Amino acid sequence: MRIERLAGGQAPVEWLEACLFIARALPQHFTPQGLADMESDLRRAETYVATGAGETATATRVSSDQVIGFLSLVRKGPAVGEILWMAVRPDLHRQGIGSSLLRQASTDLSVGGVRILLVKTLSAKVDYKPYERTRGFYEKNGFLLIETIDPYPGWEAGNPCAIYAYSAESVHPFRRKPSGCSE
Ligand SMILES: CC(C)(COP(=O)(O)OP(=O)(O)OC[C@H]1O[C@@H](n2cnc3c(N)ncnc32)[C@H](O)[C@@H]1OP(=O)(O)O)[C@@H](O)C(=O)NCCC(=O)NCCS
Repeated sequence: MRIERLAGGQAPVEWLEACLFIARALPQHFTPQGLADMESDLRRAETYVATGAGETATATRVSSDQVIGFLSLVRKGPAVGEILWMAVRPDLHRQGIGSSLLRQASTDLSVGGVRILLVKTLSAKVDYKPYERTRGFYEKNGFLLIETIDPYPGWEAGNPCAIYAYSAESVHPFRRKPSGCSE
């Protein structure tokens, strides 16, 4: 597996289409409105894209069967990032692809000075299995539930929002200076 980082606003159309192809295969997670929002977000967001082992995708050319997962994010300030969207091809869940995307993004963010990574997802107040698995994924990867907001502005009624946070520094602890260091 390879992970490519596509800079915000510079992702080639083929790559965006390949990411949307994965999301469209997950109708239990993404509604038509969600897909439309995702499409516009992916055009501006920084996106990490995983491609399958042994397949060669170039900077501008990729086909939908080559892309196996993606994670897109925005920087909300110098020290805070937020995951906007994330998905892995349904037939390849639970093989570590999502965790690898998360690790790569967190490492890069932490090197760039980001200390906290946020993600908003459907709260456990709603009994809905697909998002129980999603929360399980984030919790397993070290995200902590900070707050539940219901209703969340801009989200459809009946979709309470769980806000999770993760210390991006935890993946890159060696760049921390010991206290008292006067460099
Ligand atoms: C959430 C998601 C990106 C995780 O990617 P992934 O490659 O499957 O995750 P990993 O293999 O790295 O991590 C596996 C962990 O995630 C959770 N998980 C992922 N898919 C799961 C499934 N189908 N059933 C149960 N748990 C699942 C579990 O905690 C699992 O740990 P375990 O296998 O030790 O029990 C992926 O499952 C996905 O695309 N889900 C649908 C879209 C979505 O929820 N996106 C995030 C909201 S924007």
